[in-house]
Amino acid sequence: MKARSCLAIVLAAGEGTRMRSALPKVLHAVAGRSLLAHVLGAIADAKIGNTAVVVGPRQESVAAEAERFMPGAECFVQRTRRGTAHAVLAAKSAIERGADDILVIYGDTPMIMADTLKRLRAPLATGAAIAVLAFRPTDPAGYGRLVMAGKKLVAIREEADASAREKKIELCNGGIVAMAGARALAILQRIGDSNRKGEFYLTDAVEIANGMKLNAVAIEVEEDEVRGINNKSQLAEAETVAQQRLRKAALDAGVTLVAPETVFLSADTKFGKDVVVEPYVVFGAKVTVEDDAVIHSFSHLVGAQIGKGASVGPYARLRPGTRLGAGARIGNFVEVKESTIDAGAKANHLSYIGDASVGANANVGAGTITCNYGGAEKHRTTIGKDAFIGSNSALVAPVVIGAGAYIGSGSVITKDVPAGALALARGRQVVKEGWAARLRSLKSLGKKKAHSRD
Ligand code: UD1
Ligand code: CA
Repeated sequence: MKARSCLAIVLAAGEGTRMRSALPKVLHAVAGRSLLAHVLGAIADAKIGNTAVVVGPRQESVAAEAERFMPGAECFVQRTRRGTAHAVLAAKSAIERGADDILVIYGDTPMIMADTLKRLRAPLATGAAIAVLAFRPTDPAGYGRLVMAGKKLVAIREEADASAREKKIELCNGGIVAMAGARALAILQRIGDSNRKGEFYLTDAVEIANGMKLNAVAIEVEEDEVRGINNKSQLAEAETVAQQRLRKAALDAGVTLVAPETVFLSADTKFGKDVVVEPYVVFGAKVTVEDDAVIHSFSHLVGAQIGKGASVGPYARLRPGTRLGAGARIGNFVEVKESTIDAGAKANHLSYIGDASVGANANVGAGTITCNYGGAEKHRTTIGKDAFIGSNSALVAPVVIGAGAYIGSGSVITKDVPAGALALARGRQVVKEGWAARLRSLKSLGKKKAHSRD
């Protein structure tokens, strides 16, 4: 049998007033990735051919995010926000192209998984006109209630319009609806706005389909998969679910998380084999950790590539553009940004390495600072392989330290240092023998005079 074609329509035009934020709701992040990108990721995993994203007016940033994560997706603008059914019709021209299945997914339901999207389409293949994803929330407030007659779904009642009896229904609308493509427009165009909010509710499609003698069904899933995000509390709840999933996936892939509940991951964090992550580590977006690396406690990593067998922390801060070669070591209270630390190089204590290249096996002593910012622009520091930077040195960029060169402790290096040379750039030490004893005797004389005046 030929595979059924599918069009996914993601509704992302809402303002998200309840988030109390200037950022459009679907751009808020869970596990370092926008709600919209999570939804698009599930659609891509489910291998749904065509995707339409409905955005609000002046929401170019939402369209740009869709383009970034799914370049093939088509964006439609819903000019006035008149409800979820009205939003679906903004993509009318895409629906008219005649897919077998239409899958409407609310953009604020980020934890949805690809397999569930497939499950929801299945009833359409056997004759249902509508399949709604259902769940039993611990707190049903705000969700549409599913009115069932046996296995048949007869209506969805929005909370604002529900009777006291309907409000007691535990089964709720998860915000994902599959519709038979051949029937979708006929049903959608019959939806009116005579309800409490005066909106065109997609949920009314169920009652209309029943009136047309078509079949509607509900497919039940766990709450964690369909938590809708309307406010910051729900955003935080989704983060908890996302973190649990990511930790489980990392553990299943063989990563050692000593205390998984204390490690925060991003949706795109990548681990090799035999990686160890100690308690209390935060992985921001775009971090890759290769085989055998160890990330010690209290480290914060964003946009960093950690080479095989490298060691990071405790208390390290790796910022975007950090690349650590095999066996490199970044120790406590070291910050690295936009820098490459080649294989075997070390910066073990209290350093700032920014806009730098550190050659293989170089040793960056405690307290070394690359002075990369001259007040107007950033400059680069290059440290050759096997170089030795003495503790508490300041390397004023742009500057090149040649391979194997030595920098004396406490130097302020402003000029390039040739390979194999020693550079010292600090005040010379002055020693005055017996000076301390003379000072003390002068002091005690002074005190005696003061006493004699009493
Ligand atoms: C909706 C459902 C409710 C369900 C819940 C699940 C309706 C009428 N209600 O309620 O039954 O239990 O989701 O989470 O469908 N949107 C637009 N344009 C609009 C209005 C909304 O694009 O004009 C988008 C929003 O950006 C959002 C999604 O549609 O991503 C859902 O809208 P929202 O206002 O959050 O609906 P809920 O009140 O949560
Ligand atoms: Ca919602």
